[in-house]
Amino acid sequence: MSKYNVVAVTTNDYKRQAKQRLPNFLFDYIEGGANAEQTLQANTADFKRYTLRQRVMRDVSAVDTSTTLFGESLSMPLALAPVGMAGLFARRGEVQAARAAEKNGIPFTLSTVAICSSEEVQSATNQPFWFQLYMLRDRALVLDMLHRAAASGCKTLVFTVDLALPGMRLRDYRNGMLGGSTKGKISYLTQLFTRPGWLLDIGILGKPHSLCNLKHKVESASDLDRYKAFVESQFDPSATWKDIAWLRNNWSGNIIIKGIMDADDAKAAVDAGADGIVVSNHGGRQLDGVSSTIDKLPSIANSVGQQTKVLLDGGIHNGVDVVKAIALGADSVLIGRSWVYAMAAQGEAGVNKLLALYQQEIAATMGLMGVSRIEELNSDVIERFNQPF
Ligand code: FNR
Repeated sequence: MSKYNVVAVTTNDYKRQAKQRLPNFLFDYIEGGANAEQTLQANTADFKRYTLRQRVMRDVSAVDTSTTLFGESLSMPLALAPVGMAGLFARRGEVQAARAAEKNGIPFTLSTVAICSSEEVQSATNQPFWFQLYMLRDRALVLDMLHRAAASGCKTLVFTVDLALPGMRLRDYRNGMLGGSTKGKISYLTQLFTRPGWLLDIGILGKPHSLCNLKHKVESASDLDRYKAFVESQFDPSATWKDIAWLRNNWSGNIIIKGIMDADDAKAAVDAGADGIVVSNHGGRQLDGVSSTIDKLPSIANSVGQQTKVLLDGGIHNGVDVVKAIALGADSVLIGRSWVYAMAAQGEAGVNKLLALYQQEIAATMGLMGVSRIEELNSDVIERFNQPF
């Protein structure tokens, strides 16, 4: 039996399976970070710089991983992060992930550049999804997306602010996903045919799909190419804090600002009226050289944690990482690549199994720390490796 056929019990197990299933350019698109990938690597590595406190003999027969966020009850402090074009990794990928999130009692975030539309996700689920917004140059298009998300039951907007310019993901340039060179394009278009199982599942090049959330057709390789060029031309580098006021006028639900890596920006987000922030460096895909999110979390949570909800993403692979982030000041975390690998590997069933594993790991970790409730996870139960905290 190949080592890849073992039952998947970690994010890395799913990642290996996803690598076998996806064409190389798509795997690299998911896995890659910007430039030298220093930040991407730090996001994961820096979790290991924190150690948990083990306390015993404390009756942990009723460990409870549930929490409340923005008025919603969550089975655990975890949400699925927005991931663009997830419908390219498995058929109707956003719908599959939204269903798994609902089944496991956590929120799903639909990306601006999702393949499935707000309406499609709403009709496949009963729980409200979160909607992620990029500020696009075409404000009428932004308004249309906001109205459609609200009409589809969404109450929480995740406004991503760390993509003023597209990050330099060199793997994507090498594969022709970015940069637009003819040689590159030929390289990735040829790869479409290297994974027939994936190609049949996706149905690209043949089976008609509905329009994607930005109302573009993505049914063929050339559609995909045009869609990518359109999206790249739409990111608005002129957005400032003033645009939050504009958003407020056009969105009556919660606003979470995603992409905060600096305590001063966290304060500016609070001043702008954010209901929550996500400490995020876009999974190391934007500014390479910025620190890991887990390293920045304590100072940001200390400065604004009383005034707004503080979420974190980047580098989370398992339940132990979740517990560490909550202990360091996060109210909840989001996972990106982790759920995407599970979905690319095994579809909705894979995401279901992954989320069940997260919950099991969070509960086991809390119990072995002598902790029964999420509220007890604070700076008393975590230490910085080899350093007084
Ligand atoms: C992303 N991310 C992202 N974020 C966002 O706000 N809108 C988007 O459309 C996307 N698209 C996207 C695509 C892919 C393939 C990845 C891997 C990531 C960033 C995402 O929401 C999240 O911040 C990171 O993925 C968190 O890091 P980890 O969990 O992947 O380490």
